[in-house]
Amino acid sequence: MTNLIVSPGPLIGHTTVPADKSITHRALLFGAIADGASRIRNPLRSGDTNATLGVVRALGVAVQESESGELLVHGRGLHGLQEPETVLDCVNSGTTVRLLIGYLAGQDFFSVLAGSPQLRKRPMGRVTDPLRQMGAHIDGRDSGKLLPLAITGSRLHGVDYELPVPSAQVKTALLLAGLYADGLTVVIEPGPARDHTERMLTSMGAPIVSKGKYITSERPQRPLAPLDITVPGDFSSAAFLLAAGILVPGSDITIQSVGVNPTRRGLLDALISMGAEVQLDNWREMAGEPTGDLHVRHWELTGGAVQGDQIVTMIDELPVFAVIATQARGDTIVRDAAELRVKETDRIATTVTELRKLGADIEELPDGFVVHGPTKLHGAHVSSHGDHRLAMALAVAGLIAEGVTTVEDAACASDSFPDFEETLHKLGAKLDVTP
Ligand code: S3P
Repeated sequence: MTNLIVSPGPLIGHTTVPADKSITHRALLFGAIADGASRIRNPLRSGDTNATLGVVRALGVAVQESESGELLVHGRGLHGLQEPETVLDCVNSGTTVRLLIGYLAGQDFFSVLAGSPQLRKRPMGRVTDPLRQMGAHIDGRDSGKLLPLAITGSRLHGVDYELPVPSAQVKTALLLAGLYADGLTVVIEPGPARDHTERMLTSMGAPIVSKGKYITSERPQRPLAPLDITVPGDFSSAAFLLAAGILVPGSDITIQSVGVNPTRRGLLDALISMGAEVQLDNWREMAGEPTGDLHVRHWELTGGAVQGDQIVTMIDELPVFAVIATQARGDTIVRDAAELRVKETDRIATTVTELRKLGADIEELPDGFVVHGPTKLHGAHVSSHGDHRLAMALAVAGLIAEGVTTVEDAACASDSFPDFEETLHKLGAKLDVTP
């Protein structure tokens, strides 16, 4: 129950952010079914990705760690995973469990997936329902809609499935199951959910084809080639620094080597349309992903609207976007974001409740929120509710609030951003951590 005590002040300097969480999860899981050793440089080592690493090892895959932090995943091929001897603990990680359900449904063994009390509340029917249409045998609480889940590997067949809401986790689970299924699996996505899976599996030689909103997957004719990648910085972690850089007068920061995949950088588009200038330099490719250095300083913003297809491209950034909106002139409205209600917490409710404690003028909508700005925030005791992204969004609010802000239960930041306090501290933030 660590508390983070934040005083206002600017951020100045150069930094990197931890590696991309979505890409690290995938590199571990995909590397495990490749033929040979995958080299993953700069993987994210966080609560969530360590859960995936533990599962991969429990499936009989050797993973070596070098002193430089690089991981060597000794892939066992598409049919080489072993039946785990114990329950697979996904801890707090929604991506781990949802990807695994698809990954394990077509294996020829039995497995059980479990997780923390937080994860046990999150909906799994969105993955288990379409997988059952493919012939998967999955049992679990609430008819297989909640963890723990028991998967009896079975013979799958392809289906055409239109996702009710855009979700990269569900898309990935179905594409992975498609690698083990008879016939073609067609996923139809209603919006541009992150496409790391398509990029990575294609680079490994898997028969994954994307055409607009249609993505297909089928049984590979050849073994999957191992990966050899350097994971770029996580845009979703950079978002907290970007927000602080723009909001706190006197700030001037450069965040190096950040992934700026178009399906991830909706926050950049929102900031630019609200008047901010964000410089993107040093464009290059890392792990098949567009990557660059982001340079920001303080800007005055005007309110804006975020809705429709843009939502999925900034879904994890919406709590910190609410903080940004408190400093924009006029109203900022977020709609079509009901998905926020089934993240680590109900992020509409928790964001609105906590920002109000700091003086924000924010109203809850069924599928988003409206912020009337700008408002002067004032320090207060706020809670992360055990949600890493809320903890960090509130810390950013603390950098602009008058007086001292205490973010309770802030240790969860390490689910995705292990050195969050140290990174802010090095950029000049005034922070203290108390047990
Ligand atoms: C993720 C997909 C998103 C995102 C999550 C990571 C992924 O979830 O919110 O943090 O790596 O595939 P949904 O697929 O539920 O939108």
